[in-house]
Amino acid sequence: MDVKTITVIGAGTMGRGIACVAAQGGYRTVLEDVSANALEQALAWIRESLQDGVNRGKFTTEQRDAAMASLATSRSIDQAIREADLVIEAVPEEMETKLEIFTVLDKFAKPGAILASNTSSLSVTEMAAITFRAEHCVGMHFFNPVPKMKLLEVVRALETSDETMAACAEVGRRMGKEVVVVRESPGFITSRINAMIGNEAFYMLQEGIASAEDIDKALKLGLNHPMGPFELVDLVGLDVRLSILEYLHKTLGEKYRPCPLLAQYVKAGRLGRKSGRGVYDYPKTEEKLRG
Ligand code: CAA
Repeated sequence: MDVKTITVIGAGTMGRGIACVAAQGGYRTVLEDVSANALEQALAWIRESLQDGVNRGKFTTEQRDAAMASLATSRSIDQAIREADLVIEAVPEEMETKLEIFTVLDKFAKPGAILASNTSSLSVTEMAAITFRAEHCVGMHFFNPVPKMKLLEVVRALETSDETMAACAEVGRRMGKEVVVVRESPGFITSRINAMIGNEAFYMLQEGIASAEDIDKALKLGLNHPMGPFELVDLVGLDVRLSILEYLHKTLGEKYRPCPLLAQYVKAGRLGRKSGRGVYDYPKTEEKLRG
């Protein structure tokens, strides 16, 4: 499959980032969301990210303009995916929602089009099973913030074909990513390890071993992590992290049991940067950092 047109479903933090690198990679790109407001914010964010890339010497103003010109938005999912060779869904991390989306994608995408999920932990095999094209279903796991993060995990579900895997790896490379291939397993490589580190940090906080600031400082300066576990969970979303841990706990066992303090923060609405408060507080002026 020679991919030329990519449609991204969902204009949230991940969807807008994926659309941005798709357009940068020279693909005709459609970003779809039901919310006009989300699309408007996403376009502004993409414009800013492309300009940032120009300022950093990553690409030229011509390349920036070409990327913007190749990008369209849509509020109608069936229209948005009709021409797509590859559809990447980036909707909330709930299996029920993913299954609804995959049903619609399978119905309206052209025969042979690849259907990819940006899920960070869930079973792509389960999503593929609801379609009539399991061999064309695959996981493409991107990382936040997408334009800056170098990795793409391409996840092979039970029936994903070699052609689908190869096409997605090539798309990843054209988007400027390093690609790793993973056989489907809960949390793949990165979410499984990251969830463990983040959960352990919450247990330490709960046990009063050190302050959040010092735990972050220790991992940054002692282990050379670019961000501390609490800075990172505030970026990713505490609700997202909790749902990943719940899924890992259910599928892989006891050692992934979510820390009660994390669950309590989520109950309190402390979801991270996106809600203005997570482990840390974020004044309103930092709103644009949300995504
Ligand atoms: N367009 C293109 N490239 C850009 C760019 C842009 N707008 N802005 C930056 N870049 C490039 C930079 O040039 C640089 O590339 P090189 O290393 O080749 O020069 C790279 O992106 C990183 O840029 P910086 O080093 O300048 O970025 P930074 O110093 O501001 O660091 C950070 C920011 C990369 C986010 C760093 O803090 C970090 O790595 N944090 C950890 C983030 C993380 O772990 N994310 C994963 C979360 S888990 C997830 O998302 C998955 C999930 O399923 C929940």
